[in-house]
Amino acid sequence: MSKPTIAVFDTKSYDQQFFNMTNADYGFDLRYFEFRVTKENAVVTEGADCACVFVNDQVTPEIVDVFASRGVKLLALRSAGYNHVDLDALKGKLDIVRVPAYSPHAVAEHALALMLTLNRKTHRAYNRTRDSNFAIAGLLGFDMYGKTAGVIGTGQIGRIMAEILRGLQMKVIAYDPYPNKEWAEKWNVEYMKLSELYRQSDVVSLHCPLTPENIYMINRASISQMKPGVMIINTGRGKLIRTEDLLEALRSGRVGSAGLDVYEEETVYFFEDHSSNIVTDDNLLRLLAYPNVLVTSHQAFFTREALTNIAGVTLENIRTYFEEGRIENGIPDFDAGTGRLQKDQKKEQKSDA
Ligand code: NAI
Repeated sequence: MSKPTIAVFDTKSYDQQFFNMTNADYGFDLRYFEFRVTKENAVVTEGADCACVFVNDQVTPEIVDVFASRGVKLLALRSAGYNHVDLDALKGKLDIVRVPAYSPHAVAEHALALMLTLNRKTHRAYNRTRDSNFAIAGLLGFDMYGKTAGVIGTGQIGRIMAEILRGLQMKVIAYDPYPNKEWAEKWNVEYMKLSELYRQSDVVSLHCPLTPENIYMINRASISQMKPGVMIINTGRGKLIRTEDLLEALRSGRVGSAGLDVYEEETVYFFEDHSSNIVTDDNLLRLLAYPNVLVTSHQAFFTREALTNIAGVTLENIRTYFEEGRIENGIPDFDAGTGRLQKDQKKEQKSDA
């Protein structure tokens, strides 16, 4: 077949730059759109073989129908997470691929940056010294050394996070429904049940995917099990935390600080410049007003290495699908059943299940 045409949604200049560089080796017809996909604008995929979306493109059943009616066969996610896609709606219509890991180091290192900044208050010190205010009252931190960090989710990112924290000589404890015992032994990490992790941790860092089971896992009840003054870091997904409950706990001092790279209503604001607008999300405004909260705009992944990997893996996923009729980097245990896959791969997937 001729080179596939790809409609690439929600692109910024940096996405286009890295995709163009990588596409020099592929020669695909890339059509960039700066807007996020909606059911109204999804028609721009007319004549495209593939729609390529990012984390804040909500792929609803209506959008899937528009894609399919315009000839799209493949949905290529530029993300690891796929909670923004209605998988049921894809069945029989579109196959799906993703980028399972673009740089787990980038995300773990950003989580560490949030932790150290909140602890040592370098964000506030920066503002003070620029104003020739060299007072240090109010900037008191604690030694990370010897404290206990609870890592929730020990996949690619959580494991790197734990290893970094071991480097600080913290005690690292972890929870994961599928513990990696060999790794834990090597790094001296102790798995335990969630309630025990909450009870022991000075810092809790979230590195699990968002699923129907763990939505709002950080809520009033779970916070009440944590140490008073605990630090909570979320680079996972916004809806892992019920923001209302976090705000209440921050106000009462139950939670000492929070570093949030993701926010449950981030789709409205993140990745865009709203500095000349009135932000109307009261919870976001309250988070931004607290001195012990640090919000970053879903930038944990944002390194040169990660953007190179996102472009490389996405274009290779698309090539494999259209040239070899194979899914490379699909969704675990998910088969859209479009009948477009090679027969032997289908057999392989069945026997894996
Ligand atoms: P991964 O799939 O390698 O690991 C996820 C781990 O979480 C697995 O070990 C799994 O068993 C575990 N898990 C599943 N449900 C759990 C639960 N209820 N409680 C505790 N653990 C649970 O994923 P990876 O690459 O480590 O990424 C983790 C998450 O980080 C992604 O799902 C995504 O939401 C988020 N992420 C955020 C980015 C950012 O820029 N802020 C960038 C990339 C990923």
